Amino acid sequence: MMHSTDNTPHIASAATPLSDGQVQVSDVTHWTDRLFSFSTGRPAGFRFRSGEFVMLGLADDDGKPIMRAYSIASPNWDDRLAFYSIIVPGGPLTSRLQHIAVGDQIMLGKKPTGSLVLDRLRPGKRLYLISTGTGIAPFASIIRDPDTYDRFETVILTHSCRTVDALGYGKAVVDAARQHPLIGSLVRGKLHYFPTVTRDDFHHNRRITAYLQDGSLQQELNLPPLSSVDDRLMVCGSIGLNRDIATMITAAGFTEGTMNDPATFVVERAFVGDGAL
Ligand code: A2P
Repeated sequence: MMHSTDNTPHIASAATPLSDGQVQVSDVTHWTDRLFSFSTGRPAGFRFRSGEFVMLGLADDDGKPIMRAYSIASPNWDDRLAFYSIIVPGGPLTSRLQHIAVGDQIMLGKKPTGSLVLDRLRPGKRLYLISTGTGIAPFASIIRDPDTYDRFETVILTHSCRTVDALGYGKAVVDAARQHPLIGSLVRGKLHYFPTVTRDDFHHNRRITAYLQDGSLQQELNLPPLSSVDDRLMVCGSIGLNRDIATMITAAGFTEGTMNDPATFVVERAFVGDGAL
């Protein structure tokens, strides 16, 4: 899902927003019957930090906007904006959004924000990006940002899903990042990708919390045990995942960072298409 490398003509020029608050869809990929990704043009002047989210949406039948938070999955140097969505059965937005096609317009908020940004973390050696489900979206941005590799010697992206097919999007992003002509060598040199699947046959078949708790992730990747001195974490998943990781690492001496007081971990709930903020 890399956009600046594939030389396909952009349908919506990045410099020409269609109208205030609207962008045009430039590609759509359905990964499973419940998961899809799409890209849009990027309005001139639309700035964000890798890892942030923005409100996006469509009009309902009465023309009223239905807006939800979506992590931006593309890096901040890209001239398109990419998003990754689950389809929530009966969900007011995603039941419509699942039918978007190239050339359609969607509404885009103006103020990206969010806590999964590098500036909320103190300098460290290793950056762990822990995700479940669509929680990989902000990390799809962060693993393609050269700034990430300037700040950290090693980056570990973990992605846990119930089934193997739900890993497809993340795997494609990682593969494309590794092959990218500009950032590929950084990614190949520094990024570890650690997928786990809990309800299908897979070589990593436990919850990520189990791999962290017994140190088998570090053993497999030849990394030292987790330590708040050198390690930094970003967490994006379900409420349960976020809570369990936060409890585990807080007990190990990690503290949550803010813009005014950067620290050793940050956390954000994965946005699920039609979920509440
Ligand atoms: P599990 O299958 O054991 O529930 P979901 O689709 O429910 O958001 O789950 C996505 C993935 O995250 C699944 O592999 C699921 O494992 C895992 N998961 C859910 N809750 C937690 C948690 N509290 N800690 C670790 N992994 C979790």
